[in-house]
Amino acid sequence: MSAILQVELGKRSYPIHFGSHVAAILRRDIANLKAESRPVAVVTDENIKRCQGAYIAGLGPDLPTMTLPPGEKTKSFAHLEAICEFLAQTKLDRNSCLLAIGGGVVGDLTGYSAASFLRGIDYCQVPTTLLAMVDSSVGGKTGINLAAGKNLAGAFHQPRAVYVDTSLLATLPPREFAAGMAEVIKTALLADLSLFDQLQSSGQLNPASPQLPEIIRRCCEIKAAIVAEDEEERASQGGRALLNLGHTFAHAIEAVTAYGSYQHGEAVGLGLILAARLSQKLGHLEEKDFLAVKEAVGAYGLPVRLSSPLSALELCEAMKRDKKVRGGEVRFVILRSLGKAETANGIPEQLWRELWIEVGAENH
Ligand code: GLY
Repeated sequence: MSAILQVELGKRSYPIHFGSHVAAILRRDIANLKAESRPVAVVTDENIKRCQGAYIAGLGPDLPTMTLPPGEKTKSFAHLEAICEFLAQTKLDRNSCLLAIGGGVVGDLTGYSAASFLRGIDYCQVPTTLLAMVDSSVGGKTGINLAAGKNLAGAFHQPRAVYVDTSLLATLPPREFAAGMAEVIKTALLADLSLFDQLQSSGQLNPASPQLPEIIRRCCEIKAAIVAEDEEERASQGGRALLNLGHTFAHAIEAVTAYGSYQHGEAVGLGLILAARLSQKLGHLEEKDFLAVKEAVGAYGLPVRLSSPLSALELCEAMKRDKKVRGGEVRFVILRSLGKAETANGIPEQLWRELWIEVGAENH
């Protein structure tokens, strides 16, 4: 496996590092920054600090560290403000570099803090969850949630490098590993049928599975290629929006449950089932394809129905507030076939409402 994958974005290009020497490369890069008198600070969360405290301490002496409460609710204006105040008190200057050591919440929030502090400083991603390794640490989407919806405030701000150290997955709770698998399944479904076949035939993967590093790399490769083509999701058809397969549904579940009941990946798993069912109803997938998606998601114990009834009306209203809405219309990502996604507009609301009811929402 090649140790570096380049995200090709002209002047903003950066490497994703893989393999067993990633920690050594990260230590070297931190030492180099400090040798150039560039201050480095760490942002992480309490769970990572508890499980990987020695890893963080081993990255270098005297790294100022901000430790956040874990969980999606941390992706808020209050914590953005707290990080920026911390950076100011630590006297970070415009040459500084932040290290986001954590999952998607830490990565998105640290990236947005880096985009905002002093009008923009550098940051690097050190993903510690499967979800962050295969999706959120790559591509420069940063941001926070609003009460009105997920990721509704943020900025595109590419990291300077991403360090994918799969040894960090050893302490990942099984529920979080499963949530990350939803993004792996998503990536396979939207772009790579052979990866989807591999996921179906390889049984249930776990952090020690020998195939996992290559699968993570493949997901990063797919994402890097899509981001290189459409960095800021502006393509009128397809493009980066395809990475949102299942997410219009998932973000609605997260918003309606106030980011408290479902992990992001759990909502994405159910979102994939809904996107596959929608694709079937539109005549693109056969029943067996829909069932294959449901089985792939269910194999990791991810929800295949809503765990408690939610209002179909509220879920539909939340979908209309999604940032993928264009010209007042909800834009969906559907499957033309397994391994091939496309964007679709003009899908009648009655159809999404029926989908919600099929997975346990109440018809009000
Ligand atoms: N997670 C979707 C994207 O980065 O575009």
